[in-house]
Amino acid sequence: MPCTSIYPPDSGSQRIGVPRETLPLEKRVATVPDVVEKLVKLGFTVAVESAAGEAADFSDDAYRAAGAEIISDAATLWATSDIIFKVRPPSLEEACLIREGGMLAGFIWPAQSPELMQQLASRHATVLAIDCLPRMLSRAQKMDALSSTASVSGYRAVIEAANAFGRYFNGQITAAGKVSPAKVFVAGAGVAGLAAIGTAANLGAIVRANDTRAEVADQVKSLGGEFVKVDYEEDGSGGGGYARVMSEGFQAAQRQMYARQARDADIIITTALIPGKPAPKLITADMVQTMRPGSVIVDMAAEQGGNCELTVPGKAVMRHGVTIIGYTDLASRMARQSSTLYATNLLRLTEELCKAKDGRAVVNMEDDAIRGLTVIKEGVVTWPAPPLKQAPAPAVKAAAAPVVEKKSGHRHGARSPLPARTLALVFAVAAVLFACIGAYAPTAFLGHFTVFVLACFIGYMVVWNVTPALHTPLMSVTNAISSIIAIGALVQIAPPEAGAAGRPDELILGLAFAALVLTATNMFGGFAVTRRMLAMFRK
Ligand code: NAI
Repeated sequence: MPCTSIYPPDSGSQRIGVPRETLPLEKRVATVPDVVEKLVKLGFTVAVESAAGEAADFSDDAYRAAGAEIISDAATLWATSDIIFKVRPPSLEEACLIREGGMLAGFIWPAQSPELMQQLASRHATVLAIDCLPRMLSRAQKMDALSSTASVSGYRAVIEAANAFGRYFNGQITAAGKVSPAKVFVAGAGVAGLAAIGTAANLGAIVRANDTRAEVADQVKSLGGEFVKVDYEEDGSGGGGYARVMSEGFQAAQRQMYARQARDADIIITTALIPGKPAPKLITADMVQTMRPGSVIVDMAAEQGGNCELTVPGKAVMRHGVTIIGYTDLASRMARQSSTLYATNLLRLTEELCKAKDGRAVVNMEDDAIRGLTVIKEGVVTWPAPPLKQAPAPAVKAAAAPVVEKKSGHRHGARSPLPARTLALVFAVAAVLFACIGAYAPTAFLGHFTVFVLACFIGYMVVWNVTPALHTPLMSVTNAISSIIAIGALVQIAPPEAGAAGRPDELILGLAFAALVLTATNMFGGFAVTRRMLAMFRK
């Protein structure tokens, strides 16, 4: 489709534009008022199309109050924005509206959208496909919109199941009789599956789950589920935390196990997916027939063809007395929540693009995460990205577990350690300085100074290796430990061997006592707060 409008680029701060989603039933919006404030702090100006957030319960006034300009006409918004934030891939008509050389961030699915890619390339656009982010990089997880969407959808799948199911989830003993807990079976324990397991378990159901990747068994257990193994030895890990197609033998054994689960379960939630392949058919029509009337199946893979043979994508249907839900808009059914998480993912991406906080986005193709999601750079198609130089450890998907990535023998969280050459230089300079000080300083000073330098070094290494999510508890425990040092300092003021002659006067003693009380409060308080904070990370 030929496009016409050309908008000259300028050199000031850039404008981020957020159009209203046009796909029917899509209620999400690509940014929310809280995030607008943060984008403005990064130096950008923000424009939002009128009513863009209405379906997700964000009013134009809320965006205005956060510092955004409201624009009533979509074409003007597209043409006057340097960067467009979207949720769904733009239609071909929308892609035409992007300004020449503009930038677009959102879900694109380049493999499924060749025409769209061509259209955007012809506009010399730079396109950041959030669905192409290398999810296994722990540094990229803050931008992982696939995970945040899947986790909201997994939660919503259980809520939809509960809505269609005519019984309690939890077991109860009432005056009117005993109610057994519902039995939920989850097929596929990826992000969506794990969210469904946690939600169903929290509602009191008995939850069982299966996945072809054996490594997820512990995560299923940690969320309150039971992992059901297929009676066939074969691991389904296909690399990068994704699955692969299994052998015929495995599939036959899996079908037998799923048939047993279908007879026993009240609710089945299926999430099984192999990237680039149609969803595996795990629940056959015969299995549905064996389920009790009133049972529910939520097929989250409906959009990729469905894991159940009887699923109708986008609809809830009744087959053999079983409700089969094939909604493809589960995240959109919790639009406020999913928009907020998605907006935060895009904010983290913008922070990566605008490290100088000057309101200008720079696409650094040397950065593995940014390279992975850049599918078009200034009109040149750069998708698919080359494989990562070093295959990192697969990401742990359980939300509660802080992720540690292994790379070149270093453990680190969101940041990478200093390069070896810089580290060597720092050590060389420090050694020369140390030698100079050692040549002139008194011996007593040198002892204390050595301890000080070693403490700094150990402190630095400890903090560097702690995952950023745990920095707050680390601060409080450090605070507590530093108070112990203060007690040591007080002992130094009034050394016990000083005797009666060396006793300090009463004012100093009083001050020392007050300091001791305050320090002790700080110390015990610090440890107590650390315990409470660490408890928040435990399930
Ligand atoms: P994922 O790729 O992280 O998880 C899929 C899981 O299925 C993996 O753990 C994989 O090992 C497992 N699996 C693959 N083949 C299997 C088999 N034969 N048997 C058992 N397990 C198998 O994907 P994610 O992000 O958790 O999403 C899950 C599904 O939910 C996908 O189909 C996705 O498209 C869909 N989804 C649907 C939404 C909706 O609105 N309906 C919204 C978000 C996600």
